[in-house]
Amino acid sequence: MKNAVIYMFSGTGNTKKICELYKREFEAQGVQTSLYELKAGFEDLPDPADFDFVGFAYPIHGFNAPHIMLDLARALPKREKEDEKEYFVIKSSGEPLKTNNISSYKMRGILRRRGYRQYAEYHYVMPYNMIFRHTDSMATKMWDTAKELAPIEAREVLEKTPHMLKGVPFGHFIAWLLRIEQPAMRVNGKMFKVDYDKCIGCDRCVNVCPMSNITRGEDGKFKFAGNCLMCARCSFGCPRDAISIAMLNGWRVNGRYDLDYRGEEQPDKHAWYCKKAYARYFAAAEQKIRCANANNDVK
Ligand SMILES: Cc1cc2nc3c(=O)[nH]c(=O)nc-3n(C[C@H](O)[C@H](O)[C@H](O)COP(=O)(O)O)c2cc1C
Repeated sequence: MKNAVIYMFSGTGNTKKICELYKREFEAQGVQTSLYELKAGFEDLPDPADFDFVGFAYPIHGFNAPHIMLDLARALPKREKEDEKEYFVIKSSGEPLKTNNISSYKMRGILRRRGYRQYAEYHYVMPYNMIFRHTDSMATKMWDTAKELAPIEAREVLEKTPHMLKGVPFGHFIAWLLRIEQPAMRVNGKMFKVDYDKCIGCDRCVNVCPMSNITRGEDGKFKFAGNCLMCARCSFGCPRDAISIAMLNGWRVNGRYDLDYRGEEQPDKHAWYCKKAYARYFAAAEQKIRCANANNDVK
């Protein structure tokens, strides 16, 4: 039986949901699939050599992959040039801008030097966990689209169909420039604050932080160290919305979306933002889904 591994980082669950769709489709196609969830320390890190299909999945942060993906790329065993291992990438982001196409550049460079070669990359638009809150009707539309698109693209991955995203002018320079986000977020993470009038002391933030960056002292006060990824998991999942995320607090999105909203379309005060890019994303997805369904009917 063939097998697959997807090394996956997901701050607030969007990327993980897409990976689960891939896993379901891979297994429907007879490929046993493990999802390896990234946490600091990379405990029991699987070796890509043991798998027929190898994937990397992440949410886009500042038009880049979060730095845990770069750390992972450096931690994987080096392979001989003549024995390169192929891999695919899955990523999610809140907006469908072409600039997001550059997000894997740094990780791809590290992996290439370590003997891994990318053959496919797929990008899914999912509700923002930062910047502003999408309406539930928009979030549901994104998720409904991903649910139809991901199995089609998962089959392309298994067929090893080449699918690389088109770059943008000065892409490497833009990606390099915006990686300032990574050290900036480490500093910003140290300045998180907890509103103790709201906090119920459930320690959920401590337990969910993938970097073990949050601890609670004997005085009961939370401490934020300098290894924040800005994945937003602590603030997004706080049941009392008690965590202020310092400089980015004005852009904070807290709490789950209803991804199964079937009511009337909700008024969206942000509908103007990247309007054309969203329309293009949904139109291209619909076309791909329609073609795949038509091909299935013929078969
Ligand atoms: C610090 C940070 C930076 C982000 N930067 C971008 C970005 O550059 N482009 C974008 O479209 N979305 C951006 N987003 C939104 C996330 O990529 C999006 O919500 C993603 O689906 C979250 O996935 P996750 O739930 O797996 O973490 C950013 C989110 C965070 C927290």
